[in-house]
Amino acid sequence: MVSVPNVKLNSGKIIPAVGLGVWKTPQNLASQIVPKALDAGYRHVDSAAIYKNEEEVSEAIASWLKKNPSVKREDIFYTSKVFDSDHGYEKTKKAIELSLEKAKSIGYIDLLLVHSPQSDYEKRHGTWMALQEAVESGKVKSIGVSNYGVKHLKELLAYPDLKIKPALNQIELHPWLTRSELVDFLQKEGIAIEAYSPLGNGKKVNDPALEPFAKKYNKTNAQILIAWSLARGFIVLPKTVTESRLLPNLESAEVKLSEEDVKKLDALDEHFVTCWDPIEYPLDSEKKEEKKD
Ligand SMILES: NC(=O)c1ccc[n+]([C@@H]2O[C@H](COP(=O)([O-])OP(=O)(O)OC[C@H]3O[C@@H](n4cnc5c(N)ncnc54)[C@H](OP(=O)(O)O)[C@@H]3O)[C@@H](O)[C@H]2O)c1
Repeated sequence: MVSVPNVKLNSGKIIPAVGLGVWKTPQNLASQIVPKALDAGYRHVDSAAIYKNEEEVSEAIASWLKKNPSVKREDIFYTSKVFDSDHGYEKTKKAIELSLEKAKSIGYIDLLLVHSPQSDYEKRHGTWMALQEAVESGKVKSIGVSNYGVKHLKELLAYPDLKIKPALNQIELHPWLTRSELVDFLQKEGIAIEAYSPLGNGKKVNDPALEPFAKKYNKTNAQILIAWSLARGFIVLPKTVTESRLLPNLESAEVKLSEEDVKKLDALDEHFVTCWDPIEYPLDSEKKEEKKD
């Protein structure tokens, strides 16, 4: 078995540092690839309501656990996310119920994230209150955010009725997008960092800048990128629907890049965003400023 490090979240829960991403993984493929990933040694899957595969992912985990009784439910980490259109207290409560219904085969959700900050203060606040209640109910073990910038995090941390700090922030990160200010802020706040699109959504896997590192460590470009995330202390979420890529991607956990090489890779930063960029989404006060101009 590949030795994958664990990270202890501020919620006290343990998360495996490599998770399988399932964005754009269609339902039928999710049912096939998740058991293969668990066979390969993955113990963490990252889904979301908007990915429309929560049920298939959960059921695949549940039936795999039945066939592998030596592995317990608590050994597997399952994440989902509440999408922007479900922001606000009431809507989020319903969205959580729906996500829990889709995950009923595995009993609970390990981590539920606010998918992005794209709404307004009142809705973001209501969403966080509903998430806090979900933790109190025991059906959701940890809560966090995704695509939150420093300003969104500061807003959340200042809620007068904040009871639970985000366990992590899931953001796009790779050597071409290192977001150093946000990473520093999260580290100071004790909020774990989860790197999505670690291969630049596949667009950076063949980048020639990776060749010297791939050669030096005798690893693939993809392995160098996943290893970079781990060396930076991030939890990392490579996505694949290709069975033959599952194990090599996971084995990146055993690739130890030198500090000097991590710095050389950091230097590739050019703020290359492959996905969306809600990290810049304006706060209400900024929207008012914009209107004045
Ligand atoms: N919170 C958010 O807003 C957000 C946004 C984006 C992503 N995410 C999460 O992060 C996960 C990963 O991000 P991502 O899906 O954007 O992309 P990624 O993991 O950076 O890249 C995935 C792409 O790389 C290919 N690939 C995977 N392993 C490879 C390998 N060893 N060699 C060559 N190509 C390889 C995949 O192809 P095949 O699948 O065909 O093998 C796919 O096209 C998502 O699935 C999701 O869970 C979250």
